Amino acid sequence: MPMIQLDGKDIFYQIREADNKNALIFIHGSAGSSECWKNQLTLEIEYNLIAIDLPSHAKSEKFTELSLELYVNTVKALIESLSFDKIILAGHSLGGAVAQAYYFKYPEKVEALILVGTGARLRVSPMILEALKNDFQAYIDSIPVGAFYRKTDKDIIDHYLEDVKKIEPEVALADFSICDKFDELKRVKDGEIKVPSLVLCGNADKLTPVKYSQFFLECIEESEFKLIRNAGHMLFLEKPEEINEAIVEFVKNL
Ligand code: COA
Repeated sequence: MPMIQLDGKDIFYQIREADNKNALIFIHGSAGSSECWKNQLTLEIEYNLIAIDLPSHAKSEKFTELSLELYVNTVKALIESLSFDKIILAGHSLGGAVAQAYYFKYPEKVEALILVGTGARLRVSPMILEALKNDFQAYIDSIPVGAFYRKTDKDIIDHYLEDVKKIEPEVALADFSICDKFDELKRVKDGEIKVPSLVLCGNADKLTPVKYSQFFLECIEESEFKLIRNAGHMLFLEKPEEINEAIVEFVKNL
């Protein structure tokens, strides 16, 4: 299994290798895993394609304290361990927060960002935080309606639910708490994202509404936006062909 070390612990990633030092790194959202990106790990582009399991998620080892800083350090350790020269960071929801935070701290090698169903601020509904603290099953039960378009194939939803059920409730709560604290509205508004950015959002996204993506579009000079129709917050699982097409087109024009 491909692993790197962070603070003496194993961090797992999936990789589709390319014969160069360029990487497109996918970062999953709250309570997710590298498996979420299974449809993207076949993209026809000349980049190493990587999807990471953040600390305490799926096959990565358990850490006692989870934080945005730890997740940023995880991405940094991956890039350093594999000696990549040029990277594109693709982040979904919480993963989008990690991508932005990484870019603000270590912009040097970042060629572009792909911001998928995410925002520059990610306040979380108190109802979600409450369910995560007291009734994890209620959180799981809320996912089909909350995170997916109403007509999305049941198999896609069920497959995702199987993955989420494996996560520890404390880890899911830590992820959403990190989102709730995340706020880079000012830096984004001030034009501090200066790399080409592809912004992707489902038209039926209830967790990170289209407005959040439009904000990126207004504030990032070199940005392009693709609204994915008939998709919710899990757009890359719901509409993988459209997402992959948009990413390939974006990367080819860099
Ligand atoms: N990009 C652009 N604008 C944003 C933004 C973003 N990422 N995040 C918030 N804003 C805007 C809001 O639209 C709102 O503007 P308005 O006053 O013109 O309506 C303003 O900033 C304040 O919004 P918010 O920070 O969300 O605070 P709130 O007290 O109005 O609402 C919640 C808090 C939790 C009810 C609300 O954020 C919500 O419904 N969130 C979505 C559901 C959720 O839990 N998502 C999980 C994300 S991981």
